[in-house]
Amino acid sequence: MDNWIKKDLKFIWHPYTQMKDCRESPPVLIDRAEGIKLYDTRGNFYYDSISSWWCNVHGHNHPKIKKAINKQLNSLEHILFAGFTHKPAILLAEKIVSLAPKKLTKVFFSDNGSTSVEVALKMSFQYWQNTGRVKKTKFIALDYAYHGDTIGAMSVSGVDLFNKIFQPLLFSSFKVPSPYCYRCPKNKDQATCDIECISSLEKLLKEKADSICAIILEPLVLAAGGMIIYPKEYLSRAAKLAKKFNVHLILDEVATGFGRTGKMFACQYIDGIEPDFLCLSKGITAGYLPMGLTLTTDKIYKGFYADDEKRKTFYHGHTYTANPVSCSAALASLEIFEKEDTLDKVKKLVPLFYAGMERFRGLSIVGDVRYLGFIGAIELVNDRHGREIYKNGLKNNIILRPLGSIVYFFLPLCIKRNELEDILERGYSAICVKL
Ligand SMILES: Cc1ncc(COP(=O)(O)O)c(C=O)c1O
Repeated sequence: MDNWIKKDLKFIWHPYTQMKDCRESPPVLIDRAEGIKLYDTRGNFYYDSISSWWCNVHGHNHPKIKKAINKQLNSLEHILFAGFTHKPAILLAEKIVSLAPKKLTKVFFSDNGSTSVEVALKMSFQYWQNTGRVKKTKFIALDYAYHGDTIGAMSVSGVDLFNKIFQPLLFSSFKVPSPYCYRCPKNKDQATCDIECISSLEKLLKEKADSICAIILEPLVLAAGGMIIYPKEYLSRAAKLAKKFNVHLILDEVATGFGRTGKMFACQYIDGIEPDFLCLSKGITAGYLPMGLTLTTDKIYKGFYADDEKRKTFYHGHTYTANPVSCSAALASLEIFEKEDTLDKVKKLVPLFYAGMERFRGLSIVGDVRYLGFIGAIELVNDRHGREIYKNGLKNNIILRPLGSIVYFFLPLCIKRNELEDILERGYSAICVKL
């Protein structure tokens, strides 16, 4: 075993990893990265087919992002964000507001996806307290939802594998069935589906809206729950129900934001959608530095705006809130979106990606194939195969890190046609070996 790996295993406890397995399958020692390729110390390359845990956007080692980071480092690397501010944060907040759904006009900074969700949950809760609706204390979330690994985020998540053991620590929330079409209990298909699964949400709201702060949803893709891509109609109706029953709509675009579904934000597939909160992270800095954002409306903001002695202040913050270097990386990334027509390029390649995904449908170990933008998932009929396919993937120079029985692509937006064709071909070989 490589000395670096020996040292790694001696000192490091990796996330989402059974460390005992590392003796047989040690972590891959990556030395450098360029574009959508990672290179290990032995000279092998790997396509970054899951965008470095869903955050890389324009590729690795991008000169414009590096330049922005270096420039910022020369003037200000960090400053507390209470009582002080700085231009990169101001510019970024202004830019994000211009890109987001219309009524989202205020930006609260934090430093990762889970904290962006915690902020939304706490703001929603406190808004109702501050405005006298004190019985509104509960949240509604979907089965299979994933909103992060902090206690609040876990309390509104629905992936048992991650959460079950912590149940006694979590606050109770209402869970409603997910629009998981492949596992539709009514066996409906696209032609016959009338989004019956929304009825549980509607019923719950009818009975309990007075005690509910918010519904939290990952728009269109339940990512960690299994890359479950669900009908736009479900999101549209859920948004209408939130409005009708006077509960907040929290949209968690930590995974789907910044172009991954083909639009800047997945919720923009729904015309006129008006979330009360939008949670962002991962792709915001194109995957270069940590950052979380929670966007909200003037209405929510005003619920906190008062003389200090009224005790309506939002007492929440993190040390690295609005770090100037992260803000500069984010600004550079958003400029690349505009200057390099990133979303147009994605649009042109999406049909090729979808056609490639359809090819997997013919394989006997494949139960379902689903895709949206640059996210594509292959649900296997048997979850034993996931790990083997991951190993085959590495041998075929791609990363197919499974979510149980689901193998997926989460592609960087800068991918080129020939790279996409190659990744699909290698993915096909990695899965076929299993047959
Ligand atoms: C939808 C969603 N929300 C929140 C999170 C948590 O983000 P982080 O890992 O940065 O805490 C994730 C992470 O995968 C996510 O997919």
